[in-house]
Amino acid sequence: MLRICVPATTANLGPGFDCLGMALALYNYLEVIEDDSDCLRLEVRGEGEKTLARNDENLIPRVMADFFTRVGHVSGGLRLVLENNIPIGKGLGSSAAAVAGALVAANHLAGSPLTRGQLLELGAAWEGHPDNVAAALYGGVVVTARAQERIICRRFDPPPRLRVVVAVPNFVLPTSASRRVLPAAVPVEDAVFNVGRTGLLVLALLQNDLELLAVATEDRLHQPYRAPMIPGLLQVFQAARQAGALGVTLSGAGPAVVAFVTGEEDSVGEAMCRAFRAHGVACRTQVLAPSREGAFLVGADSGQ
Ligand code: HSE
Repeated sequence: MLRICVPATTANLGPGFDCLGMALALYNYLEVIEDDSDCLRLEVRGEGEKTLARNDENLIPRVMADFFTRVGHVSGGLRLVLENNIPIGKGLGSSAAAVAGALVAANHLAGSPLTRGQLLELGAAWEGHPDNVAAALYGGVVVTARAQERIICRRFDPPPRLRVVVAVPNFVLPTSASRRVLPAAVPVEDAVFNVGRTGLLVLALLQNDLELLAVATEDRLHQPYRAPMIPGLLQVFQAARQAGALGVTLSGAGPAVVAFVTGEEDSVGEAMCRAFRAHGVACRTQVLAPSREGAFLVGADSGQ
């Protein structure tokens, strides 16, 4: 029996569209039991237990089956138990966690033929962008770039005092819908705006220079276009800053919002919720530490 633990992730971190990500200490668990049957049994607990497919249309068995085909592994029957804590369709990397968990599990079952870098290539192909899945596989803060057919990824540990206040609105925004509103081209001054901030953001997190986050989390590449789809977003940003957040951004494609703080208290979360509520949106908040760990095997028992 295998048990894989996979973190939630927040992508972009403001200006680093499709390139930066951070793992968060909120985890999904995937249990995999191989047997002699040739069938798939899938159980879902927690987030998605009423909505996720329980057959081979579920993302996890699809990713595992594709992996096995690629590496030429013949698997037995599979019993999968998903214990989901990451909200679905909110921009917190639930699909990246499914993909990363499936890849790590399948790789282990096949005798670990692929490196983590190769798992990232596969995961990014499933996701369409590498930022969430890189953070889900490597943990910490990740910087990714595509170079020809390859993905370059480096990770580093987040500042120890950093906490992430996550405000999760009660509506779902599919990533595909949130990407459709993005323009095909942007003004060069907006690109320059983001290039400088992305560099500053990496330095702020690497050097624990958290005051930089106010400027370094600003963005002109995606948030302005997505804001109309998230009622009150700009007011939520403002409320977070006024309540003392060091920086605040949309989490990935949204609709969740993440604010960076250094304390455990949730006054920033309360302020964000009030601002969402003023726009007719109910939300819940959580203060999370970043996760240094990417997807990992909690326990392996060959059962033999
Ligand atoms: N970088 C992706 C986007 C993340 O912003 O669309 C999706 O979670």
